[in-house]
Order: sequence, then structure tokens, then C-alpha cells
Amino acid sequence: MMAKYFYITTPIYYPSNILHLGHAYTTTIADVLARYKRSQGYQVFFLTGSDEHGQKIAKAASAKKLTPKKFVDEIVLEFKDLWKKLKIDYDYFIRTTDESHISTVQKIFTKLLNQGDIYLGKYEGWYCVSDEEFVTETQINKSNNTCKICGGELINLSEDSYFFKMNHYSNKLLDYYQEHPNFIFPESRKNEMVNNFLKPGLTDLSVTRTSFSWGIPVLENKKHTIYVWIDALSNYLSALGYLQTNDKKFKTFWENKDCEIVQLLGKEITRFHAIYWPILLMSLKLRQPTQLLVHGWITNDQGKMSKSKGNVIDPRILINRYGSDALRCFLIKEIQFGADGKYNHEMFLKFFNAYLVNDLGNLLSRVTTMIIKYNDSKIPSFNNKEIKPYHDHLIFDFRATIADFQTTIEKYQVTNAVNIVWALIDKLNKLIDETKPWDLFKNQQTIQLNNLLNLFANGLFIISVLLSPVLVDSFVKIQHQLGIKATTKIDLDFNLNDLANNEVNKSELLFKRLDVEQELKYLNQMTK
Ligand code: ME8
Ligand code: MG
Repeated sequence: MMAKYFYITTPIYYPSNILHLGHAYTTTIADVLARYKRSQGYQVFFLTGSDEHGQKIAKAASAKKLTPKKFVDEIVLEFKDLWKKLKIDYDYFIRTTDESHISTVQKIFTKLLNQGDIYLGKYEGWYCVSDEEFVTETQINKSNNTCKICGGELINLSEDSYFFKMNHYSNKLLDYYQEHPNFIFPESRKNEMVNNFLKPGLTDLSVTRTSFSWGIPVLENKKHTIYVWIDALSNYLSALGYLQTNDKKFKTFWENKDCEIVQLLGKEITRFHAIYWPILLMSLKLRQPTQLLVHGWITNDQGKMSKSKGNVIDPRILINRYGSDALRCFLIKEIQFGADGKYNHEMFLKFFNAYLVNDLGNLLSRVTTMIIKYNDSKIPSFNNKEIKPYHDHLIFDFRATIADFQTTIEKYQVTNAVNIVWALIDKLNKLIDETKPWDLFKNQQTIQLNNLLNLFANGLFIISVLLSPVLVDSFVKIQHQLGIKATTKIDLDFNLNDLANNEVNKSELLFKRLDVEQELKYLNQMTK
């Protein structure tokens, strides 16, 4: 079989503070896709990291009387601790303070300067310190000179600056969008880029500053520090060894036309990823990613969850008490991928009880209990001579679920994919109620009973495999209870009798029911 390659990235997050639920959201989606692709035999490179330069970080460090590097070193440990607890299986963690990253960025800058895409000029305008960007006219709150996007302070800056000739590439980018209609998901975000930025015409982008020094110096002019976005965006290349001695990963995961490249980001940084990033790649004469996946915001009553609003939640509070699977599943299933989604503790707790305890946990517990009671703990074999129409329907549903799940997740639609599996969970729970296996047992309709129990076990096996990228601990537990050695693989041509005679063991409950009132008190206390 030909090797298949998959490169997936998250934004690199600012280590100005510990991460919150919003960052966990993006990274969980990336992890789910990476795990799915690995299960399909892809060679995967999953990248995340930290964006460590800039004024914001320098300020936060000096407030704590630390050097910027010492400051970010500590926070990066917290990033990694969160990823470990959330079971994020990344392949590489890039830091923009890495020597190799710094040298790649400087080489990129030199290249663009030499080919005339970057030139020296002067910049004047309103600059948002918190967002690290010069804002456009429409983003200024004129009454008090604050940023409409984040509410933060704006300062008037005038300084020498190197500029990137963005406008030179506007039409080329518009053409690229046209020729690659799936380049940006969702389409509404692409239309926004076209109407708000590309059609009115891009202005050249200021890419250096002289007003701060916590960043990568321009080799040709040391007064200048490369501004965060050119530094930050280049991480997706430097992490692969681009312009470094060992660029094997770059050849495999970027230059290689067969490599599928997927980049995740929140909607507030669409402009940087859907305009400046593709243009940077064009000017470096490199291919474009396969698709940019732009997700919505996690919000609560104060709006977007964000550090500057102070309405953030440390995901580790939820993970430590309810497990990583519960949080991963909530994020993927409850927040429709591509749209904004609300979070509050009550929603999370109710989600836990409804979907994990009642639906999935209950199904497993009912099926294992019946097999233990009615067939001496062995999964019965399926008898083809006694096949009934509803058996046939169910077997058809099994195959349809697998096929639908795969086509959906191949399009990266993680929420829809998980909901396809949930429809099967619902169906099986309903079928138990309708077929009343306890009556079949009483009336000694053994073949019918056994066929049903076999199908229930197979259904659970399919569910466990399909949910394995999300429920990274629970799928193993489900399979263990069904006497199966942990696997993330399933074939459309699965054989019902592969599970026959497996010894079922009913160990602990998959998910224990939560007392919502009591847990609400706990969470409110912990996140006060
Ligand atoms: O923007 N809902 O870093 P950052 C959903 N360093 N996702 C959220 C979120 C929320 N409420 N809040 C944050 C930066 N995120 C730059 C990126 S990339 C070359 C440089 C997630 O620490 C989401 O992925 O502000 C968002 O795009 C990212 O965190 C911003 O993280
Ligand atoms: Mg931000």
C-alpha cells in the first residue's frame, strides 16, 4: 500500500498566561483528526506550540520581574502539562524561541528582502497592544480610542518599518480561492475575506518594529525586530526543518504533493491564515495547505472566552474531576464545528449525564449484563439461518454508520461524525427496549436472543472503534469489557462472528452519574 501523509497544525498560542478552554478546544479537534488519520494508516505529523515573542509577552514578564525567556519557560511547562492531561498526542511542540525557528525566520526574511517582496518604509497608525496588530479604521472605538475587537488600549505609533508587498498578490490569491473552493472551511469565512479585505485591495503589511526588542532581529538591520505574525506563521514551516540542514520532514509533509495539510484556527485569526499566510507561501514559491479549518468561539455570558475578559476556565479543573474523555467529547459533540458554542458548568454536567452516562455507559452496562446473565458471559455467535428483517436492518445500519462516519470525518466534520455514531447508540438502546431480550430469555427463544446479543456486542464494538479518536480511554475500556484486545481499526466487511465466544467482563462503570447540584457547587467554587 502506498504511504499516505497527513500534516495537521494548531495555532501556536501566546504563553502570556496559562491556556483556557478555547485553546483546549482547537487542540482537541486537531488531536481527534490526527488520531483518526493514524488509525487509517497515515503517517501523521501533528504540530502545536507557543508564540513567545512580542510586546505583550515582554510586558507580562516584566510585571512578574522575570526575563521574557524565564517567564515563557514556566508557562510552556503548563501548556505541556495541559496537553498531557487532555491526552493530546502531538508529534512536535514548536517554540518561537527555538534556535532553529529563529534561523528559519531570518532566512525567510532575507529571501523576501532579496527578491523585493519586502521593502523599508514608514508606518503610522493605531496599534492594539493586546492583539499585537495595527488596527484598521473600522476597528477603532473612536469615543475612547480602544480596540473594538478586544476592548484593549490603542496607541498611536509612527516608526520605520519593513513592509511586505501584500497587494502584489491580491489577485493571485483571489484566483487561488476560485480554483480551490474548499480551501477555507466554512465558506462564509472565505466570503468575509474576499469582501472585506481582498476586493477593497490589500495594504502592504508592516512586518518589523523598532519599538520593542523581544523578538527575532532582522539580520540586515539590527534596529528592527521581526513582528509577531511573520515570526509566528513561519512556525508551520520551521517545525518541519524548512531552510535547515535536516529538512527531511519538510520534504515529506510539505513539499510532497500527496501530503494532506490541514490547519486549524479560531475565527479571529482568519485574516492572518487565509490571506497573509497563503501570500507568504506564494512568495516563497511553496504549495498551499489542503484546507484551513476555521472554528468558532467558545462563549459564555460575557461573550468570547478570553484572557483579556477574565472569563476563562482552566480545563484541568474539569479533566481532573471528570476525566479527559468527558471534556474531549463535550467539546467535539456539543459545539457544532464551525459555529460558536456556549459553555457553562451546568451544560457540561448535563451533557455528561445525558450522553456519557445514560446513552453510552448504559448501553454498555445493559449489554454486558445480559450476556453475562443469559449466555454465561460469552458473546453468542450469530446464526445466519435465523436471520430476521430487523437483524438485516441493523447490520445494514452498522455498515452505513461506518461508511457515513468515514466520509464525514474525511471532510474533517468532527461534530457531525460523532453524531452519526450517537445515532447508532440511540438506536441500540431503543432496540433493547423494543425487543425485550428478557422475555426472549423467559420464553426460551434462544436463537433469537443470541442473535440479538451478538448484534448488540458488535454494535458496541463498532461504536468503540469509531469513537476511539475522541474517547481515548473509554474505547479501550469498552473493548476490554467485550473481551477484545484494544484496536482502532474496523473493516466494512467485519464478520459478526469474530466476537463470538469472547468472554465479557463487567468491571467498573464507564461513567458514573453526577449529582448536578453538588458538582455545580464544586465547579463554581473551583473557578471563582
Ligand atoms: O492568536 N474559543 O494566540 P492566542 C475558541 N499566537 N477558540 C479559542 C478561544 C475561544 N474562546 N480563545 C482562544 C494567537 N482560542 C497567536 C496565533 S498562529 C501562527 C499565532 C484558540 O493565544 C483559537 O484557536 O491568542 C484561537 O485562534 C487561538 O486559541 C488564539 O490563541
Ligand atoms: Mg488571541
